[in-house]
Amino acid sequence: MKDDQDHHHQQHHHPFHHRRFWKLSGNYLRNPKPAAYLILLILTYALGYFTASPSLSSNQITTTAATSSSTPTVSTTLTTCNCPPAASPPILDKNNDHNRFGPECANPIPPELTRSTILNRVFNGTSPYDNFPPPHLANLLLPKRVKGWGSNGAVFENLINKVRPKVIIEVGTFLGASATHMAGLTRQLGLDTQILCLDDFRGWLGFRDRTEYVPIQNGDVLLMAQFLQNVVYYNATESILPIPFSTGSTLQKLCEMGVMADLIEVDAGHDFHSAWSDINWAHKLLRPGGVMFGHDYHTKYDNRGVRRAVDLFAKVHGFKVKVDGQHWVIE
Ligand SMILES: *[C@@H]1O[C@H](CO)[C@@H](O)[C@H](O)[C@H]1NC(C)=O
Ligand SMILES: *[C@@H]1O[C@H](CO)[C@@H](O)[C@H](O)[C@H]1NC(C)=O
Repeated sequence: MKDDQDHHHQQHHHPFHHRRFWKLSGNYLRNPKPAAYLILLILTYALGYFTASPSLSSNQITTTAATSSSTPTVSTTLTTCNCPPAASPPILDKNNDHNRFGPECANPIPPELTRSTILNRVFNGTSPYDNFPPPHLANLLLPKRVKGWGSNGAVFENLINKVRPKVIIEVGTFLGASATHMAGLTRQLGLDTQILCLDDFRGWLGFRDRTEYVPIQNGDVLLMAQFLQNVVYYNATESILPIPFSTGSTLQKLCEMGVMADLIEVDAGHDFHSAWSDINWAHKLLRPGGVMFGHDYHTKYDNRGVRRAVDLFAKVHGFKVKVDGQHWVIE
């Protein structure tokens, strides 16, 4: 709200004074000397108005958006101004290109059809667990290799108990630590939940040096194979399916296919732009009454990129952000 007011002030400050100058000038025009002085003043003023205005307001917007944490702003007196209602700054306008993520999604498919739809559309009707592991990988994989961060946080149990989801989408899954944890929780509750795990299963650049995570073969990490192995270990092959493509392109496709979820966890790229894209796309896949949440609200990476993306998204849509441990939650 504060930002709105500041922006409002920026835009209407000059025209307001402009009108007053013209009114006053009528009295002074009869005396040549003050009149000349006044014309000079008006000219100076006009020059300043035309040159200063646009760049000033856009700077103002960038600064407020970039800091996003509520730095106290100088309060301005607007009480006497009869200006039209303030337009929200472009960064908060839902029609701004920055805030637009494709057309409406297709009509939602029934939750019961989620698994068969993914098997058909992603795996040509076969299951990625069929004949797993193949002989050439069997000796390379560990029976179980689960590594995660905050994957057993209370937030998972809290939200699964509350939402009782039929479909969960996990955006960023790595070795499946939180996915297998969620599968266990839904099983305990007797829910028949499908968990879709979106990940390109490439890890990240530099991560291959950390050989303790997964085996490497000809420069390739066996992340997806080890993920499948972990799911097999936890007896969760009937409730967990990987979708092994980049999160952005996959979320778009799910939107086109009408694959929706009651619970969506976002935990992929932690830079602002990756998080921003994932959050915006993911939210389109949320069923009414669903909950979206994500990891690493407090991470310092990319100047707190995750938090900036979450907070800006909440601001654009008028949502509240709750914090549960390391996670952010938008209901
Ligand atoms: C996909 O499935 C169809 C029908 O089972 C089969 O004829 C086709 O060969 C499969 N395509 C690939 C690339 O495996
Ligand atoms: C998976 O199922 C097998 C056979 O029912 C059981 O022995 C094993 O303990 C289960 N593993 C886990 C991690 O639940």
